[in-house]
Amino acid sequence: MKWKAACLLVVFILDIIFIKAMHQSYTDAKNTLFLPAGADAEARDEVRRQFSGDKQIALTFDDGPHSVYTPRLLDGLRKRGVHATFFILGENVEGKEAILKQMKEDGHLIGNHGYTHVQMSKESVLTACQQIEQNNRQIEEITGTRPEYLRPPYGSWNDELECTTDMTVVLWNLDPLDWKTKSVKKVVRYIEKRVEPGDIILLHDVYPTSVEAALEVVDTLTKQGYTFVTVDELLID
Ligand code: NI
Repeated sequence: MKWKAACLLVVFILDIIFIKAMHQSYTDAKNTLFLPAGADAEARDEVRRQFSGDKQIALTFDDGPHSVYTPRLLDGLRKRGVHATFFILGENVEGKEAILKQMKEDGHLIGNHGYTHVQMSKESVLTACQQIEQNNRQIEEITGTRPEYLRPPYGSWNDELECTTDMTVVLWNLDPLDWKTKSVKKVVRYIEKRVEPGDIILLHDVYPTSVEAALEVVDTLTKQGYTFVTVDELLID
């Protein structure tokens, strides 16, 4: 039985390599031909993802919540049926607990961006860990879920921060500098010109221009066949 299972696995892996080497334009219908009987649902989903030409990207928003712009963004995303990831700055939460609850209810992923906006690699391990823990605790108290994803401010990170061994550090690979340009046009153009499947896009929901740009990008890229996922969904692939 074990030998048979191993054989199936090898055949399955060879199939994947073979199909990948072939052509991009395999259809879903054709994919099913290459799946061994007994492949579990997860394996089927994986193959489907690889060949359906899924153009997945993750929008991420740091430094919020903001009392006006974050709800505006949440409304826009809800209307479009799009999920994003929010890296919350702990010190911005007081009085905006309802916004965090709404995020959770809407299906967004909530991550940790520290309590204050400190450069964690320059802090003592104790301070950095306190920052992370204080924010994790606050988010958990409000939403009932302890964050598993961490984006350190400035992407500045120290591997020795052992307090985060149970967290995944998420950086980004597309940065339109929205906080600097504060221009809807520039942010939209930057993203639309460079975006590729699998990208993690860095934005900040504390500027009205960033919120407007994000929603415009969602509309344009949706028409181009992109789908928007949370970083945990993207990182599974
Ligand atoms: Ni930040």
